[in-house]
Amino acid sequence: MNAEQIDIEETARALVADGKGILAADESSGTMDKRLDAVLDVPPTGEDRRDFRELMFTAEGAGAHISGAILYDETIRQSATDGTPFPELLAHQGIMPGIKVDTGAKPLARSHGEKVTEGLDGLRERIADYRELGARFAKWRAVIAIGDEHPTRYCIDVNAHALARYAALCQEGGLVPIVEPEVLMDGSHTIDRCEEVTDLTLRSVFTALRDQRVALEAILLKPNMVLAGSDCAQQAGAEETASRTLRCLRRVVPAAVPGIVFLSGGQSDEAATAHLQAMNEIGGQPWELSFSYGRALQATPLATWRGQEANVASAQAAYLQRAKCNGAARAGSYSPDMEREPAAVD
Ligand code: 13P
Repeated sequence: MNAEQIDIEETARALVADGKGILAADESSGTMDKRLDAVLDVPPTGEDRRDFRELMFTAEGAGAHISGAILYDETIRQSATDGTPFPELLAHQGIMPGIKVDTGAKPLARSHGEKVTEGLDGLRERIADYRELGARFAKWRAVIAIGDEHPTRYCIDVNAHALARYAALCQEGGLVPIVEPEVLMDGSHTIDRCEEVTDLTLRSVFTALRDQRVALEAILLKPNMVLAGSDCAQQAGAEETASRTLRCLRRVVPAAVPGIVFLSGGQSDEAATAHLQAMNEIGGQPWELSFSYGRALQATPLATWRGQEANVASAQAAYLQRAKCNGAARAGSYSPDMEREPAAVD
């Protein structure tokens, strides 16, 4: 094993260190503008995107529960008001900078409405560039939708193949790949169907990772939790969600993988935390069970800030509160009472 391989294994383990998880702040400019537009009084500008990220990255003490922050191409090149580049600012807080390297989910040729994630062109060179800018890890998200006729084997396999190509290139270039095959919550499907599709998807992903020589010790898996579709009348409680999700993962994810960092996928802040708590309460798993939340860490800070300088401190407190609750859920020591405790990271 060469020194670089050891280095990325260490990085992967550090990203899932006890009590810590990842902030996914890698929304594309278009997605971020949509989220800003919902809370601002005026149409968002690039400066609003930067201001919100500055607010999140300067929240003092976030490093107690946040190990890494995933950035978008625009963000990794931006700086705080005092001129400190964002990657440097995060590193000072003890938070590793990461980078989203896919270029989005595009219509899959000769399919009816399914998507394949793109971004492999020039990826080797972009990885080298991002390393120079301070990135230590990367993310690529594939989306698998559930519908009457979906997903097809074709869609699952091409997405798995691309995820593995991305992961191999990251490891070659010295970045830890976060492998994110997201089975979407949208729809009225049952929890059984979600479990079945998540199982099929993960099997295809791990076959592709093996075929393409990806070192499992130096990746993190970022899956969805096993949940009923958001329009399904029958929703599971936290215990069932936890046991179904773990059953599915235990059948497919090799013990060599150091950590599983869930996405929140549209769950409420508190549900995302309660589900992580319930899984860690079960305990005894071969991998660390952590979070890599976007909305479940940022939605409340964003709605609190609303573009007003006067709200920066309370928005940061809202972020620290979510980070603290999710940090506790990592150890299985979260309780809903923590939601009402003063918002400060200890
Ligand atoms: P959510 O937690 O909002 O699903 O975002 C996580 C993410 O990184 C999606 O790619």
